[in-house]
Amino acid sequence: MNLVEQTLGNELIEDIVTRTVDELTPRGLFNFNAPRQTLMGEGAILKIGEILSKLDVSHVLVVADRVVHEKGLMRSMERSLERAGIACTIYPAITQEPDETVVASATELLTRNEADFVLGFGGGSALDAAKAIALAGSSQSSLHQLAEPGFSGRRVVGLGAVPTTAGTGSEVTDISVIMRADRLHKFVIKKADLMPDLAIVDPGLMLGLPPKVTAATGIDALTHAIEAYAARSSHPLAKALAICAIQSIAEALPVVVGNGGNRAARLTMATASYKAGLAFSNSGLGLVHAISHQIGPRYRLAHGIANGILLPYVMRFNALVCQREYAAIAHMLGVSHSGMTEREQCMASIDAVRQLLADIGLPENLAGTSINRDDFSSIAIEALQDVCIGDNPRDVTEADIVQLLEEVSGSKEKV
Ligand SMILES: NC(=O)c1ccc[n+]([C@@H]2O[C@H](COP(=O)([O-])OP(=O)(O)OC[C@H]3O[C@@H](n4cnc5c(N)ncnc54)[C@H](O)[C@@H]3O)[C@@H](O)[C@H]2O)c1
Ligand SMILES: [Fe+2]
Repeated sequence: MNLVEQTLGNELIEDIVTRTVDELTPRGLFNFNAPRQTLMGEGAILKIGEILSKLDVSHVLVVADRVVHEKGLMRSMERSLERAGIACTIYPAITQEPDETVVASATELLTRNEADFVLGFGGGSALDAAKAIALAGSSQSSLHQLAEPGFSGRRVVGLGAVPTTAGTGSEVTDISVIMRADRLHKFVIKKADLMPDLAIVDPGLMLGLPPKVTAATGIDALTHAIEAYAARSSHPLAKALAICAIQSIAEALPVVVGNGGNRAARLTMATASYKAGLAFSNSGLGLVHAISHQIGPRYRLAHGIANGILLPYVMRFNALVCQREYAAIAHMLGVSHSGMTEREQCMASIDAVRQLLADIGLPENLAGTSINRDDFSSIAIEALQDVCIGDNPRDVTEADIVQLLEEVSGSKEKV
């Protein structure tokens, strides 16, 4: 027995140690969630039968984009599943930005069907529908229940995702975005069980994506990366993925818009979208998405288009608190030179984003849409309740959002 033990006694020491441990608080922790398995590269889809066989899957419900199905992009998957002896039911009814009615009918199909695995196949719309169907179907819940904060239902079927656009990163996020029946509002549902178990990323499936969709979806990926990099809850792992994605998108997006058949650039974009998805799913987004979730449905703007329009305006607004982050982004966008101050680099990054939008033919503001000034206040109130708002790096008020909408509407001078 040493001197301390002799003086204090073992029980007292034990008590002090217990109380000290109880008072310790962990600091700076972050979670990082990702699919258990990813297969990436051209031709990856040919391996799906083999992979699902190893997971003991017997019947797959494929929730598919209608256009992707009609184009015959699912043939390799069907053949691969057939060769592996896995039954397959295809639900090829997903069109852009699916709503709760289509999700509800596929959920019913899953309940009737013997499927033990749900596979989303298409752009973000099909993947998000598949994710919601897998969770709602296997927990016998409605989308409204899923969206409730205290929802505790669990997914008991497997879930996989095969993206055919390089944009949303939905194959690696725990988020599903579904339009409400009124098609004016969106459910943005974030739950651990929405994270797919398997992501198969095959850029060969993206070679025929039209230039306009390539541009809009690619800008969505850039927005994810920039918002994730600057988000309040960002952390080193998310930042590393995000900054790397920004560099890749700046290099490859103009190439895939101008030459959709460029296989190397398609792979770069698919990988960048995946990285940006992982980054934001684990760190959060910000004001671009908070507003875009409101104006997209109201003014019938595709998600990527709405984000692209908002991105430089929101960056200008956030620059007050993100000078360092945006300066780092300027390096990745190739517009930072020695001798520039941090503020100059920050502003250069915003100009570079604006230039990229112009180069790939996306609109710079909302002029030409049916935007209505009378909506601005309610859009602002709804944006302040959006799940993405809490991670915006700068505090935001209703008046700030109304001001931004004034600028974005094209009625005021450019920022
Ligand atoms: N879950 C998430 O983390 C997340 C993140 C961002 C956005 N979203 C949501 O994703 C949806 C948007 O997804 P998206 O941008 O990928 O667009 P999308 O899935 O709506 O597809 C856009 C268009 O491209 C077509 N298409 C898709 N792949 C094609 C291909 N390979 N060849 C030819 N045509 C093809 C589709 O038929 C559709 O007409 C929105 O609902 C958005 O809110 C989800
Ligand atoms: Fe997005």
